[in-house]
Amino acid sequence: MSTDKQVITLNINGESIELLLDGGETLLETVREQLGMTGSKRGCNQGVCGACTMLVDGEPVRGCLALSSACSDRSITTIEGIADGLNLSPIQEAMVEHGGLQCGFCTSGMVLTLSAFLAENPKPTREQVRHALSGNLCRCTGYTKIVHAAMHVAEAYSA
Ligand code: FES
Ligand code: FES
Repeated sequence: MSTDKQVITLNINGESIELLLDGGETLLETVREQLGMTGSKRGCNQGVCGACTMLVDGEPVRGCLALSSACSDRSITTIEGIADGLNLSPIQEAMVEHGGLQCGFCTSGMVLTLSAFLAENPKPTREQVRHALSGNLCRCTGYTKIVHAAMHVAEAYSA
């Protein structure tokens, strides 16, 4: 991996930030260690668990695999940027309402994955929701309440 430093501009949660970064630094390292935004979790650090999921140009990516240098001038959303001020996003509200979290370690990745999925699929089936979450591992909930939360949002949007 390259250790060359480079100045890059990241657009994170609507804010443009110029940083001097190692060329091999991952997006997860940048947001957690350089920017102090620790809502994105480091689980496996190998692209398997989904705990580090963020959105880049609206698409879920593994923050532990994506290089920050490859995300220059793209629009990055972390869990810190998903609410509207003090108002939780619809899927955040639904996760709370339906008990879609226990320890919370997987929750930011779940929320971002579901936000992107529901934006593309506003009227999904339960099976489609479950499939959309196949890359996000949860050791606590058994997924049922998370799927309930997503279906609640879908029903509210389509009402
Ligand atoms: S920490 Fe990135 S996928 Fe597990
Ligand atoms: S709520 Fe604990 S890992 Fe999902």
